[in-house]
Amino acid sequence: MTETYDFRPAASVTPGLSVRVATADDGEYMAMPTGQDEAHLTMRLDALRNVPLFRDFDHDELVEIAALVTTRRYTKHQTIFREGDPGQSFYLILTGSVAVARIASDGRETILSILKERDFFGEMSIFDTSVRAANVRTLVETEVGVVERDGFLALIDRNPRIGRQLVISLSERLRAANKLIASTTSQDIRARLASLLLNLMQNFGESAPNGTRISLRLTNQEMANMIGTTRETVNRTLNRFWDEHLIDMRTTNVVITDADRLRAFTT
Ligand code: CMP
Repeated sequence: MTETYDFRPAASVTPGLSVRVATADDGEYMAMPTGQDEAHLTMRLDALRNVPLFRDFDHDELVEIAALVTTRRYTKHQTIFREGDPGQSFYLILTGSVAVARIASDGRETILSILKERDFFGEMSIFDTSVRAANVRTLVETEVGVVERDGFLALIDRNPRIGRQLVISLSERLRAANKLIASTTSQDIRARLASLLLNLMQNFGESAPNGTRISLRLTNQEMANMIGTTRETVNRTLNRFWDEHLIDMRTTNVVITDADRLRAFTT
């Protein structure tokens, strides 16, 4: 399989938003703030309506939240912040996807999680007034909503429902992290890669004639960084899955053609 770093563009970028998108020349931390006028408030409102954290919020409550949110756009492969940075703000992904990763002292990256549209990040250092626990970088062009620390904490005080939703989401993350730890210590590589593909299918799957296409394209190196192995091993194992008709790699995005047999590896 050809190694590629050319991810699919974000599925959707807020329509009608005319802003300059930050480029690598702006520096890794630079993002372009998007407009703050009435039209942009309406757009932020539409985006917020779909965020699980604000589930069941009525229009007026969402207006209150939207007023606290500023939006920023990042190009693909931009760093939003790094482990060790001071945590000043909370982020909501409005469009796109990011990787949450840590870099070991030998330079090796471990991808802890991939977050997508409607997910949030940056809450940990907000709550414990510590520094950022991980790097966060974009995988595709990404638009985020940013809420400053004080505003976010005051918002939770006024709306305990957000606190409850946060606990639910953090429990899900802990569950996923536990699963990852268990799988990296006890499962063989086929099981680990099968789990990852099934997870990507669940989060980024779209229907295809021969199965389920994974819309997010990751390099073999990134997949290796998610399951604690090497790029060569991922390459070899993917080819084996392909030979066994579990996946199809003829197109630019991997298609899962036999999820049941992949799942059998993971049990
Ligand atoms: P914070 O420490 O402020 O900055 C890094 C963010 O990455 C962190 O908040 C969380 O939002 C997010 N994060 C850290 N670890 C994980 C994980 N295992 N799964 C998903 N997100 C994480």
